[in-house]
Amino acid sequence: MDKLLIRGGSVLKGEVAMSGAKNAALPILCASLLSADPLELGNVPQLNDISTMLRLLGDMGIGVRHEGDDGLTLDGSGLNNPVASYEMVKTMRASILVLGPLVARCGEARVSLPGGCAIGARPVDQHIKGLQAMGAEVTVEQGYVHARASRLKGARICTDMVTVTGTENLMMAACLADGETIIENAAREPEVVDLANCLVAMGARISGAGTDIIRIQGVEKLHGARHSIMPDRIETGTYLCAAAVTGGDIRLTRTSAAYLDSVVDKLMDAGCEIVVERDAIRLTAPAKLKSVSLRTAPYPAFPTDMQAQFMAMNCVADGVATIRETIFENRFMHVSELMRLGANIQIEGNNAIVRGVDRLEGATVMATDLRASASLIIAGLVASGETLIDRIYHLDRGYERIEQKLAALGASVERVR
Ligand code: EPU
Repeated sequence: MDKLLIRGGSVLKGEVAMSGAKNAALPILCASLLSADPLELGNVPQLNDISTMLRLLGDMGIGVRHEGDDGLTLDGSGLNNPVASYEMVKTMRASILVLGPLVARCGEARVSLPGGCAIGARPVDQHIKGLQAMGAEVTVEQGYVHARASRLKGARICTDMVTVTGTENLMMAACLADGETIIENAAREPEVVDLANCLVAMGARISGAGTDIIRIQGVEKLHGARHSIMPDRIETGTYLCAAAVTGGDIRLTRTSAAYLDSVVDKLMDAGCEIVVERDAIRLTAPAKLKSVSLRTAPYPAFPTDMQAQFMAMNCVADGVATIRETIFENRFMHVSELMRLGANIQIEGNNAIVRGVDRLEGATVMATDLRASASLIIAGLVASGETLIDRIYHLDRGYERIEQKLAALGASVERVR
């Protein structure tokens, strides 16, 4: 099993391009289920989660053609098997995103119920409740969600909490429903907006994406379209933290600060200087970072997907920070690993109190999920000596060519067996 060996102490400097957003690409790949015409996509990141989704769509009869490094054409004309097996769903919870589009286009779907994962229980009751409100008959049999509807009907849906993939699933389903669907308490994440833009290019009638009320007028069918995936704001934020912790000076290109306000604000609070360009961001770190407290919440507040990376930064900052996680009940798995490197962190319920220390020291640590592994890299970059991160497959799910990108910025990172 691959591990990542980091020799700490390098100062990150230089320029590197960011990739397309994983969490926008995953639902957009599923949008190909909604039409028999080809969907041409650009800026698709090469990640394990994307390959898994393509395998799942391929099993359902979607034609997949790669075009160059980051292009893909998906052909929905052969869709004939509206099933997502346990084997697929267990490796990637985002597989639930096929549920809405399948019922809408095929009138039926069988999708394995995703279990819990390292960061929490993560139920999908809101996805099911929304489809039921649209007239689908939903049963759960032998671990599979079985949804049927000859044609979904427009409905008013108010989700109990803000859910990103829940909003995306229901928005996709509503595109082919009969009449108007209104999703209240909708997720406002930029990835929801990117999906909506792609669906609109396919002929969907959607308004309000990016606000908490999305209206969708159902249409008879969607057609082919071209769409370029938005830049990955979490990848961007992760590299900014990595540079900040090493006292670096980097410029990230092919990205945008437009969706990173809360993260950029916190980096500036920590003492970093940030220059925002049209398609690039430059960060210059201070000699010593200041601690920054934060609370995760749905967009536009601070993203849970950046919590672990800021925790790592706070480990070596000046002062005491309180980090409150409000989205997932178990997203502090990185804490015990950071402590193996010498961090001083105390957990009290969903708060982590981080007292900055003068130095971290390299050790062998274990990645438990995607963003936890990113936090261990950040800590490893500033730790003295060697940090060996085990179970690096978590990282390959969501960070494209991370060793090459870090190496391009001057880090000493090596994949070892
Ligand atoms: N929830 C329910 N019932 C539901 C749906 C959600 O109780 O039916 C709860 C969840 O358990 C959680 C909260 O609502 O406590 C919010 O979860 P949400 O549904 O928004 O999360 P998600 O859609 O499963 C996406 C991202 C995650 C990201 C979260 C929060 C994708 C593919 N995944 O997950 O990304 O952390 O939104 O922003 O978009 C990552 O990239 O590392 C990652 C985990």
